[in-house]
Amino acid sequence: GAIAVVMPAAGSGQRFGSAQNKLFAMLAGKPLWYRSAAALRAQTLVGRIVMPVSAADRVVFQNQFAGLVAELGIELVGGGDERSDSVRAGMMVLVDDPQVRWIAVHDAARPLVTDSDLTAVFDVAAQTGAAILGMPVPGTIKRAVGENEATARTQTVDRRDLYVALTPQVFSTGLLKQAYQKHNGRPATDDAELVERIGHAVAIVPGRSDNLKITYPEDLLVAEAILAGRTK
Ligand code: CTP
Ligand code: MG
Repeated sequence: GAIAVVMPAAGSGQRFGSAQNKLFAMLAGKPLWYRSAAALRAQTLVGRIVMPVSAADRVVFQNQFAGLVAELGIELVGGGDERSDSVRAGMMVLVDDPQVRWIAVHDAARPLVTDSDLTAVFDVAAQTGAAILGMPVPGTIKRAVGENEATARTQTVDRRDLYVALTPQVFSTGLLKQAYQKHNGRPATDDAELVERIGHAVAIVPGRSDNLKITYPEDLLVAEAILAGRTK
């Protein structure tokens, strides 16, 4: 497995609003985190899968879900306060493994990623050293220009070169390590931004719009419908 996976799962799911981490919510009979990891495990190029988890959830993974964790060969590590802290923690256990040529970072909250999108982004990352899935922006984008919303005027932004960043985000191991070494703490919204900051190009691979991140409770309803549609 030349590609290793870091699957950040150490959030708390504030916006989802359930008592426990949203990643334990069931989607068609399996927990969200399991579906996300299983999609990556199905890829022949994927070797190690490291999952950063919070201290509070670690016991749940080790007890309630020990069987599923073992089935997918997932290595649990401690996460951090910010998503980037969690990704860094996962990355650190992989960077000294000479077999790991690329690291794919994939949100545990994205259970619907498809085999063909995974293959496509892995392929471009292997050629370029850095590639992410991105969804072409589907609607008209307006910029509000002005001091405040009440007095602002709209401008229309050309959306032909705009994408919503998805995961996986896949980088050569050395590149991701370097990007995190140079990370000065200024918040970044994804891992690709850290790579951009050190001046390395990140390729964008158009991905499916149904690669949802489960954020709000209603996302789970949509995900159920998408899965049901796929198995027909
Ligand atoms: N994540 C993480 N460590 C953190 C924060 C987030 O590993 N400190 C993970 C989440 O578990 C999730 C992914 O990063 O799989 C994307 O984050 P998000 O969807 O924002 O999940 P949460 O942070 O858990 O949700 P919220 O922001 O609503 O609290
Ligand atoms: Mg969050």
